[in-house]
Amino acid sequence: TVLANAKDVDSYAVSHLIAIDKALTDTISNTAKNGAPPIAVSPTQGKFLSLLTRISGAQNVLEIGTLGGYSSIWFARSLKAGGKKGKVTSVEVLEDRRELAMQNLRNAGVKVPEEAEVLLGAGLEVLPRLLAEIEQGKRPKFDFIFIDADWENQWNYFDYGVKLSKGPGSVILIDNAVQKMLEDGIAGQGKRREDAISVVEKVGQDRRVEAVLLQTLGAKQHDGFLMALLV
Ligand code: DHB
Ligand code: MG
Repeated sequence: TVLANAKDVDSYAVSHLIAIDKALTDTISNTAKNGAPPIAVSPTQGKFLSLLTRISGAQNVLEIGTLGGYSSIWFARSLKAGGKKGKVTSVEVLEDRRELAMQNLRNAGVKVPEEAEVLLGAGLEVLPRLLAEIEQGKRPKFDFIFIDADWENQWNYFDYGVKLSKGPGSVILIDNAVQKMLEDGIAGQGKRREDAISVVEKVGQDRRVEAVLLQTLGAKQHDGFLMALLV
């Protein structure tokens, strides 16, 4: 086997290591049909997230940015592994994408809303509501938080993530942390670069967490996760 580049290596590894089923490929095609951008996590990243939740023993995952529910399916399935009962709560700002995601989740055998709940609204609207519900004892704290939404609020999402988490041992992951730092100066998007850089610097000053920026190569080219552990 001759593998010429990072994408080849990724597809090769996926073909040997990852069971991609029809529900996952349907999710990608349904998301494209819906007119949503093709920016779901890759199969390798989805599996990585699912293994991380299992390694961390997560039970309650919070996802900010649902899109078509591709990563939500990976989370929901991983939370059921070994007969465990967990739940992913995902936040989506667009109503038709929420519908799409719930359809994709059901199509993947995930019970909505018992195993995966998709909440409609902007992150900064929904997260304070979740925090209030947690404080009122109406819902459990989260132990794994995946941030994959608009960049201007990235730090706010992170800060809410810390407050919504169980505390030490909880994990917060930010998608696209590297891609946004390196983003070309497309008109109006230079700010995402600055935001991505300032998030890394703020997380570095934040004594509530220990963090690392993990660069990745693969189907999504040069990118990476910012991963933080609550301490
Ligand atoms: C973009 C957003 C994402 O969440 C992603 O994974 C890749 C790209 C974007 O907005 O460009
Ligand atoms: Mg992303």
